[in-house]
Parts: sequence; C-alpha cells; structure tokens
Amino acid sequence: METLGTIPPEIAGNFDWLRVKELEEQQRSLLRSVVCGFNQLLDLRDLNTGIHSTRLAEWSVRVARKLGLPDSELYQLEVAALLHDIGKIGIPDAILRKEGKLTDDERALMNKHPEYSWSILRLFPGFDKASLYALHHHESFDGHGYPGGLKGDEIPIGSRIVSVIDAYDAMISNRCYRKGLSHEEAVRRLSAGSGTQFDPSVVRAFLEIAGKEVANVFAATGASPSAVI
Ligand SMILES: [Fe+2]
Repeated sequence: METLGTIPPEIAGNFDWLRVKELEEQQRSLLRSVVCGFNQLLDLRDLNTGIHSTRLAEWSVRVARKLGLPDSELYQLEVAALLHDIGKIGIPDAILRKEGKLTDDERALMNKHPEYSWSILRLFPGFDKASLYALHHHESFDGHGYPGGLKGDEIPIGSRIVSVIDAYDAMISNRCYRKGLSHEEAVRRLSAGSGTQFDPSVVRAFLEIAGKEVANVFAATGASPSAVI
C-alpha cells in the first residue's frame, strides 16, 4: 500500500490540506455540540427556554446583518445569544426563583452571572468574542450597567445587540406570574430606553425588522400582539 511519503510532494500537500480541513470541521462540529449541550443545560434548569434563545440568536444575527457587521462576527454573536446567561447556573435557586424583590446582597450575587458566563465561555477555543459579548450583555448605553459600567461604543456591539433583543423578548413573553406586554408597549419601552439603556442604532435596526413581522414574533412566543400585563 502506498504511503504519504512515496507520493509526490504536490499531491501530499493536498492530503495535508484535506486533513487540516477535516480537523477544522471536527472542531467546528465539537463546538456546535458544546453550544447545544450548554443550551440544553439551561433548559433543564428552566433558565432559558430553547425557543427563547434560538429566537434570540436568529434575531441577533439579522440585526447584525442589517447593521453591516462582517460575517466573521455572526457566529460569535450567535453563540453569545444562545449562551449569554449560562452563568446563571452558578446562582442559587433561592435567588433565581425568588418572586419578591431581591435584597442588596442577593442582587449583587445575581449581577455576577455575566462574569460567570464569561468565565465558562472563555475556556473554549474560538469563543473569545462570544465570551466578551456575554460578559457585557447587561451594560447600559449610558454607562449605568454592569459589570464594567462601559458606555456607548466601549460596549462590544454583540453585547449591545443581545441586550436589546433579550429585553424585547422578555417583555413580550408570557411568564407564569404575568402576561407578556403588547408589541406596542414593548416598542414604547425600548424606544424610551434608546440612548440610555440601549444603543439607538440597534433599537432602530431591530424595530425595523420586528415591525414587519410582529405576527410571527408573537406566534413564536405564544403571546398575542394585543396582550397586556
Ligand atoms: Fe443576563
């Protein structure tokens, strides 16, 4: 049987190239499985429904495209959208599931979850940006968010996108203790927070897309466009 050593160098080079491609594909596939596995973990702890995060990822990528982000950013954004709250795994149930107001200490611990998300995601090769997007998804455009108190463009664009869509989705989704808001009310609140909590360009891009697809959005959440609190 012929070995690689006896093959002419130009052909052997092709074998090397094919092997590299194969290994790259294996790594991509492994990372995809890791992302899906973690996403299921969130589901199991009932922290984030699969539908919510899948929708969040889909909308994040669409907003990113509308804002002209390069293709190389989209995968990182998708991972961040799916796993930005993975750090909630490290928050005790007594705090996560508390129905009343959190005490200052409980709030301080709860606000650690973006750092926990970052500390998990940064361990995986190729998730550098995704981990940063997760770290900063609770920053506020005016600098009053956490954990870094970053302001405006200091906040990674992926974090600014996840923040807007996550907020909208949370507002319109039904919860066991309350009904989702109407699209109009959610838009009003997003617009009110534009420039303070949210990046105005992201709000604009998102609402342009969402405005045309309200019915689909609500069908996906199980709420109705006319739902009220
Ligand atoms: Fe979060």
